[in-house]
Amino acid sequence: MTILDSLDIPVIIAPMAGGPSTPALVNAAHESGTVGFLAGGVIGVDQLREDISGVNGRFGVNLFRPQDREPAPADIDAVAGRLTQAFREYGLDDPHIPEVDLSNGWAEKFDLLLQARPAVVSSTFGMFTATEFDALNRAGIEAWVTVTNPEDAVTAEAAGADVLIVQGPEAGGHRSTWSIDVRPDRRSLDDLLRDIAVSVPIVAAGGISTSRDVERVLSLGAQAASCGTAFLLAPEAGTSLFNRGIIADGGPTVSTRAFSGRFARGAATAFSRANESLPPLYPYLNTLLAPLRKASTARGNRDFAYCLAGTGMALAREAEAKRILMELNPSA
Ligand SMILES: Cc1cc2nc3c(=O)[nH]c(=O)nc-3n(C[C@H](O)[C@H](O)[C@H](O)COP(=O)(O)O)c2cc1C
Repeated sequence: MTILDSLDIPVIIAPMAGGPSTPALVNAAHESGTVGFLAGGVIGVDQLREDISGVNGRFGVNLFRPQDREPAPADIDAVAGRLTQAFREYGLDDPHIPEVDLSNGWAEKFDLLLQARPAVVSSTFGMFTATEFDALNRAGIEAWVTVTNPEDAVTAEAAGADVLIVQGPEAGGHRSTWSIDVRPDRRSLDDLLRDIAVSVPIVAAGGISTSRDVERVLSLGAQAASCGTAFLLAPEAGTSLFNRGIIADGGPTVSTRAFSGRFARGAATAFSRANESLPPLYPYLNTLLAPLRKASTARGNRDFAYCLAGTGMALAREAEAKRILMELNPSA
């Protein structure tokens, strides 16, 4: 038994780092009889503590597993050099290589979660160690692992995951490959659901925008759907006004390293089009681009926008989260 057996609606509100996930979104999920996730991946431990204090009911928290290697310094230098002209056009100092903490504060945040005891902790970009699985078990917290291919699914099940989140290429946000070097599996979500053979429950993620989509992934063996993009325009989401404009315009999305340095899906931009095959630069690229992103968005220019969203972006609607959940519920 997992909490999936007690959901009134087989739709979960996915973790969305960078602003969209809020306690209000998580509370709306709880009040609708399902569960929502706080995005603990990149925020600091104090912010995570504050977010948790704003949650009223059952909730999950997502963490980003720290990556095992630094990107090549020469690759970071080369991209910084290529950005110089654009920085100067915006009157900015030349780009400089940022200080980056590869740990994502994982250990501190993990300890906080053992105290705070959410119903679920999910991992992205890798999984928990044996000691961490044990600690979650002992605290009565379910350990969910995000996978993107059958091999990782088998590994995560054998290691002790309670639930697998199977994330397809349609998903908005980062693809949860377990190394920055891996090129993500290109099978569709449906094909991944067909090809992944595990006995733990599966939550399907990626491009799920309608109750029919939910019905389809359930018929392919998932016990619930995890939706992110569908909630980006909800008033409870912390999506910026700038990104709300991009999403509402509903252009194409692309899966590329050009947003952050590791594969992620978001609204295509001039920068993503001009940089289709960047090397793995995560997590440096976003920090490197930050001043340019700030200056260009202040002028309403979308060329360097960082608007992560899935293939269902054009279907995202401005409606309250509870209403979106109701509309996604196949048995409503
Ligand atoms: C803006 C945005 C941020 C995201 N951030 C995270 C995150 O912090 N952790 C995570 O596991 N997945 C993250 N994702 C992926 C979602 O959890 C989920 O897999 C995805 O939204 C499902 O596909 P959909 O966007 O097509 O509904 C993010 C997705 C979006 C759109």
